[in-house]
Amino acid sequence: MNVSDSQWLDRSLQTMGLTPSREEDADIFLINTCSVREKPEHKIYSLLGRLQDYARLKPHVFAGVGGCVAQQVGRGFFERFPLVRLVFGTDGLAMVPEALKRLLGDAHLKTSLLDFEDYYPEREDNWNGEVPGQAFVNVMQGCDNYCAYCIVPYTRGRQKSRRSEDILAECRRLISLGTKEITLLGQNVNSYGQDRNGQELSFADLLYEIGGLAGLDRLRFTTSHPKDIDSRVIRAFGEISALCPQLHLPLQSGSDRVLEAMGRRYTREEYLNIVRDLKSACPDIALSTDLIVGFPGETEEDFSQTLDMLNLVGFDSSFSFKYSDRTGVRSCEMQPKIAVEIKAERLARLQKLQNEWTAEKLAQRVGRKEPVLIENSSKKQHGGETVSWTGRDPGGRVVHVTLPPGRDFGRQLLQVEIVRAHKHSLTGEVIK
Ligand code: 5AD
Ligand code: SF4
Repeated sequence: MNVSDSQWLDRSLQTMGLTPSREEDADIFLINTCSVREKPEHKIYSLLGRLQDYARLKPHVFAGVGGCVAQQVGRGFFERFPLVRLVFGTDGLAMVPEALKRLLGDAHLKTSLLDFEDYYPEREDNWNGEVPGQAFVNVMQGCDNYCAYCIVPYTRGRQKSRRSEDILAECRRLISLGTKEITLLGQNVNSYGQDRNGQELSFADLLYEIGGLAGLDRLRFTTSHPKDIDSRVIRAFGEISALCPQLHLPLQSGSDRVLEAMGRRYTREEYLNIVRDLKSACPDIALSTDLIVGFPGETEEDFSQTLDMLNLVGFDSSFSFKYSDRTGVRSCEMQPKIAVEIKAERLARLQKLQNEWTAEKLAQRVGRKEPVLIENSSKKQHGGETVSWTGRDPGGRVVHVTLPPGRDFGRQLLQVEIVRAHKHSLTGEVIK
């Protein structure tokens, strides 16, 4: 979501005539921030501290801070870092280009765009000229779930779905400009439209509509909440040919006791049933997940249930995090807190097990023939005869392919045979 927000802002600013530059040459710094865990939040303070030096040398230089940390800290940034003249929350993004024009015209001005609106402030569809082969399309903002550990409902606000016809229009436009793959984005896409009294398409219908658009090769979506994924969406994996065999389905914990305390509203058995149905609709589906270790009260037994789930599901990959208290969320009050050393030790064990699964899952791909959507070249020349490119297979795995020089393979779908597996990616050869 943050990557997509940053890309939107980048396109808007380039349309205004601003250009990206190296840090030491920049007149304006724009920083998009994440506060979902402690670690990304800390990074922003050290970054701003460092950037402050540029403003000392060049007084016209200023910074804008956006995203979830800005939503929380707000005007506090103005006091701590004189360099900062703009703060904008996630819903304020649409107003940033106009605000920058005003700030460039008045060196004494400071602006904050932080208020939550009850409606979804539509961002102008700013796709023009060259579009990426792979594009993100927002279907909703915010989240109503209030999982005990999570700050998202407080920073991105309540769920706000976009209108189906606007989503479809954006997808059509992207396809007409050359996009091959669309990823639909939302904090909880499976409850899409529920905040609009059934006036919009259901998420399953939306998938069928977009999946049926001529010229679209690949469709993905993220993120799904296990409690909300319905049987029609599961069936869609077997029925919509453009829908890629890939799903990110955050589990968070394998212990029913911890899931209950987290307020996730599903059990491990329910999760396993979803996985069973997904695999029966789409046997080749690649599954990934998010996991938290060291939630307050998590015992060794609870944690071993999480490890057990890794073995029962066999995730292709997972993102795992040490629990951290976020200001104002329910789990701050929950006890006992787990010691940092225990969290670190559990995380290491979990990641070791996941690495074994990832290696096995990648090794199973060797010998497969798959369409790979080429994304970019990694400039590596091989004796002037070939260039190294990377793309993704339908399951979303990164595939490296060497191709002849002198041609742009970006956005092309190439038929590739997988020949080698690495730690986190694959190597393939183009089938002649
Ligand atoms: N501590 C640790 N991890 C968290 N996540 C969300 N909130 C917290 C927290 N307080 C993780 C969840 C979520 C992912 C985006 O970040 O696993 O799915
Ligand atoms: Fe946070 Fe996801 Fe739970 Fe929403 S569903 S509160 S975004 S963890």
